[in-house]
Amino acid sequence: MMTLAPVHPDDYPTILTWLTAPGRLVQSRHAGAVPTLERQYQYVASLPMGARYLRIHDDGQFVGVATLMPTWYGFDIGLLIGTPNQGTGTRALRAIMDEHQTVRITVGCAASHGAMRRVCEKAGLAPLDSEPIVRYGREGR
Ligand SMILES: CC(C)(COP(=O)(O)OP(=O)(O)OC[C@H]1O[C@@H](n2cnc3c(N)ncnc32)[C@H](O)[C@@H]1OP(=O)(O)O)[C@@H](O)C(=O)NCCC(=O)NCCS
Repeated sequence: MMTLAPVHPDDYPTILTWLTAPGRLVQSRHAGAVPTLERQYQYVASLPMGARYLRIHDDGQFVGVATLMPTWYGFDIGLLIGTPNQGTGTRALRAIMDEHQTVRITVGCAASHGAMRRVCEKAGLAPLDSEPIVRYGREGR
């Protein structure tokens, strides 16, 4: 059974191993930023009021995290799963949807992110737009 609870700082090292696994960040919205423990703390500190940063348990095992970013209509959801392609992301998204049935939810993912798009489809979400999002940025000195 999937359960959700707030992320604890003790979870950060595990989250980092997932973020830095080869190929994991290529299509996620974190692309370009090298994940470190310091950035993990910065990320959590930067979350706006009303955001939920959740650890995902599957039958008691810590399997991933989700960020629920508050929007004017509800939440925009981001997922990070430790071991991909075992159906975990889909079941986690469904669990989040079940816990937040009364608000509108969205998932922002790159048009090229086949795995996340597939997760959304399997969880029963409909595509809202089809334009690829191209983000620009640079690192701080
Ligand atoms: C994206 C992510 C959350 C998916 O979680 P997951 O547990 O692997 O998801 P599931 O196992 O439920 O489903 C993955 C589906 O994508 C498919 N898939 C995997 N790689 C794919 C690719 N490159 N192109 C298209 N489909 C792909 C899988 O075959 C599977 O579909 P299927 O069940 O029809 O075979 C996970 O890979 C992850 O944490 N990635 C790193 C962080 C990230 O990119 N998060 C998304 C930003 S919000």
